[in-house]
This record gives sequence, C-alpha cells and structure tokens, in this order.
Amino acid sequence: MSHDPVKEISLDLVRVTEAAAIAASAWIGSGDKESADRAATQSMRERLNQMDFSGRIVIGEGKKDKSAGLFGGERVGRLSDGVVCDLAVDPIDGTRPTVTSGPEAMSVIAVAGENCLYSTGEFYMNKLAYGPQIASKIELNLNEPLARTIRLVSATAGKEITKVVVCLLDRPRHESLIRELRSIGVRIKLIQDCDISGAIACCLPDSGIDLLCGIGGAPEGVITACAMKCLKGGFQAQVVHPDGKPVDAKIYSIEDLVRGPCAFAATGVTNGSLLKGVRFSSQGAVTHSVFMRSASGTVRWLTVYHGGRQ
Ligand code: FBP
Repeated sequence: MSHDPVKEISLDLVRVTEAAAIAASAWIGSGDKESADRAATQSMRERLNQMDFSGRIVIGEGKKDKSAGLFGGERVGRLSDGVVCDLAVDPIDGTRPTVTSGPEAMSVIAVAGENCLYSTGEFYMNKLAYGPQIASKIELNLNEPLARTIRLVSATAGKEITKVVVCLLDRPRHESLIRELRSIGVRIKLIQDCDISGAIACCLPDSGIDLLCGIGGAPEGVITACAMKCLKGGFQAQVVHPDGKPVDAKIYSIEDLVRGPCAFAATGVTNGSLLKGVRFSSQGAVTHSVFMRSASGTVRWLTVYHGGRQ
C-alpha cells in the first residue's frame, strides 16, 4: 500500500470532476448560473463523499458565486479519521461560459497533504504563469517591469517579441496592462473567463501561449499553482484587493501556495483549448479529462464513455 495519500485517491478525483461536469452540462446555454453551479457542486460533493478518504475543503466555492457550498472547512469523504487531504475545488471554472454556451468551462479539483494549501479570504490575485520550457531555465518575477519579463521570455523561448503570446482576462481593470502589452509589441490573447486553463496552456507547446498575466480569482490562483507544479511550469501570485492594489508586498511562489506533492484533475464542461466539453451519445455521456500528479510528473488524458448510467 502506498503511503502517499495524494496518490492513493488519485484517479478517483477524475470521477469527481466528471460527475460535476456532467451535472453542469445540463445547464449549458440555460442562462441560469446559480442552478448550474448548484448542480455541479452537489454532484461533486456526492462523489467526494463516496470516496474512501478524509478530505477537508480548503479552497471552496466563493461568496462571489452565491454558491450552494463546498465552502472552506467542509469535511468530505467516507473516513472520519486517518490522514486528511487538503482539497481545492471549483465545480465550474467558467459558470458564465457554461450558461452562455461559451468556451473553456471545466470542473476542477486539486489535492495536497494536510495543511499544505494556502487560502485567503480575498477574491483576487495578480498572476504570472509560464511553461516549463522557460521555468527550467529562468525564474520570472512578478515585481519586474513587464517589458523586461517579456524580453526574458522572448530570449529564453527563442522567439521575437512580436511572436510572444500573452494571455489575460478581458476585463476593464486590465486596460492599462493591455495598453502596455501593445506598446511592447507582443501578441495578446484575451480570454473571457477561465484563467486556470489559460495558465495551463502556457505549459502545452501546441497552445502557442507563452505567458499568462493579470488579475483573476484567488481560489483559481491556488488551483493553478497545483496544476503548474504538476506540469513543472512557473507561477507567481500576489493577493490584491478588487481595485488591483496589493494587500501586502508578498509574492507567493508555487511552493507557498501548495507545499509538497499535489494532484490536479479537470473535466471539460464546454469545449476549450485544453479539454472537450461533455457530449452525449446514444450510450450516454462522453467526457474528456486531464489528471496529473506532481510527484511522478504523469499527465493522463482520459476520454471516458459513461454507458447508460448518467
Ligand atoms: P467562476 O466561473 O468560478 O466564477 O470563475 C470564472 C473566472 O473567469 C475565473 O477563471 C477567473 O479567475 C475569475 O472568474 C475572474 O474573476 P472576475 O470575473 O471577477 O474577473
């Protein structure tokens, strides 16, 4: 028997995100964010409570979502004693694209050892994410002027600045950042939602994305740190107020956000660059998921046919 609690529950985590994504898929295009979120959350909780483990939600649904729960502090799993795992969940990252039939919505979960996940009551983090091809050579710094960061990315990736692609959320708060990026001369990929998938894209050579920057959700920031740890990418974050002003000067590294081994699972709700959304065939639901573990560096892509059960 393995003594790595993260490894022991690993593939079960995919069942959790599959169940949440299938539940969310019933609300695609519905315009009803609360129902979509409630369905995904309830389904995720049910599946977590069928697992033979003891888990504690550290990063749960935020107040922002007026959600049905999986709030921080909630205990899940069938075992009430033994080793406890920290969980970070987002039953739907991309509630808006789910209910408007937009792209990139997915159900995500990350797991680490007890007391290993960082959590904050703040909603937002300023983030900088980049792939392993850069992270294996240099460490970028969120405090550095952006022009210098882009020059380093360009030199390390062996790409002219005009070919470097920077991804960020399309938000009014990013107006001056977008102006700055345009003046530097990079290509800009604006995304409407789902900056977890935007950060992961930096690690996938075919995505064409080199860097993710800007302000997004703090819970998503911790989940992103787990994914980046598994993919050996680079990630830094600073907790900020809604107006973008830093809460304090601390820049969080991946290790500050997730200590020790971790795992990450995601299942597509709607089609995205990372994952296909839930589809239905005459035999039932078909899901597309990714599951990764930091200790082994394994990345598993799973297309699952759920038979008639769903
Ligand atoms: P939810 O669907 O979980 O609400 O998150 C979607 C999302 O786009 C995240 O990916 C991102 O980090 C955050 O919202 C950005 O927040 P805001 O929409 O307030 O800018």
